[in-house]
Amino acid sequence: MKCKALLIDIVNLILVKLMIYLDNNATTKLDPRVLEVMMPYLTEEYGNAASNHAFGVSINSSVQTAREQISELVNCAPTDLIFTSGATEAINLAIKGLAKENQQRGNHIITCETEHPAVLDTCRALEADGFQVSYLPVQPNGLINIELIREAITPSTILVSVMLVNNETGVIQPVREISEICHSNGVFFMTDATQAVGKMLIDVNDLGADLMVFSGHKFYGPKGVGALYIRSRRPFKVKLNPLLHGGGHERGLRSGTLNVPGIVGLGQAAFLAKSELKQNSFNIKVLRDYLESNLLSINQSYINGDVSNRMYNVCNLRFKGIDADALIVGLKDIMLSNGSACSSAKVEPSHVLKAMGLSDEDCYSSIRISIGKYNTKEDIDAVVNELKETITQLREMKNPVPIR
Ligand SMILES: Cc1ncc(COP(=O)(O)O)c(C=O)c1O
Repeated sequence: MKCKALLIDIVNLILVKLMIYLDNNATTKLDPRVLEVMMPYLTEEYGNAASNHAFGVSINSSVQTAREQISELVNCAPTDLIFTSGATEAINLAIKGLAKENQQRGNHIITCETEHPAVLDTCRALEADGFQVSYLPVQPNGLINIELIREAITPSTILVSVMLVNNETGVIQPVREISEICHSNGVFFMTDATQAVGKMLIDVNDLGADLMVFSGHKFYGPKGVGALYIRSRRPFKVKLNPLLHGGGHERGLRSGTLNVPGIVGLGQAAFLAKSELKQNSFNIKVLRDYLESNLLSINQSYINGDVSNRMYNVCNLRFKGIDADALIVGLKDIMLSNGSACSSAKVEPSHVLKAMGLSDEDCYSSIRISIGKYNTKEDIDAVVNELKETITQLREMKNPVPIR
């Protein structure tokens, strides 16, 4: 029995190794150098960071080192970071925590239709509690018109939340301009930087973010760990109500024993991302541009999203008349996405592409390829060949995009 299980494991491992992974916006492979620093904290160094004996003190010092490494990646004070289980929790803490803390000041929140469901559903939950939320539209290129933000702000607006980089299209929003509008109106500004941190230079002061969230597994760190940046200095000191009550960890904002292996891993991932950012971003952009120039030679293929304000690792493409589901099934050993990972299990068309004005049929004809640092030119050649072949076959079969 044991032998059979081992054999299955080995075969699976080989199969996974042969697969080409191009879904790096869903999650990334853990960098072995991150795993290496995490290992001791999963084995011998198992102490609780809150304990005041020697074991706890030493673990706590590793947590503080990680906090510094992460703060260096986004240019904030280490004490302005709160560790969470990922971006979803950080978003919930930021939006609900700020709304509750400021409900005497106002009950209006502004966000954008193309935000991640973690933001949209958190806002919807607040609407059920009596808050008012404006979901602003985007232009056909996915960019928000900042004048709409200026117009939407009312005396009861407490928060504007606009993501830095869209997870489906890679579109980069004009966050600095938005934060300026917010601050000149006395409104807090939050940005979901989950698809930006570790991939581009981030400076919370430059962006004007009062709250910013991100997740370790999007930049070769472990899953289940992320962080919330909370501004403690000018122009605003931000106060939040906690979601989790208990032992008072993380300055009382996030009670619960710290996930030390995860935090140490996040720290190392941040350190590596910062030191290798230039090289990784250059290499990945070369691959993305090569991929796009090849795929755009396919008849009736188009890029979704603004081409000049776009993260360098993403390519969201639509092939007229092609059912993206059939296309993905037809790709034998290539993993990419027909939407964001969180919503690709749903049958509804992408809310991001819909907000950009695409028809249902065009949404169902779109795929997302997200490149990471482990991809090679051979991977890109393989995906180009397979996509071209499968699209030709599907078009010959005249397989229409099904009406769902
Ligand atoms: C833009 C964005 N925000 C938030 C999240 C949620 O991150 P996590 O699942 O790590 O909580 C994701 C993950 O896909 C994302 O891409």
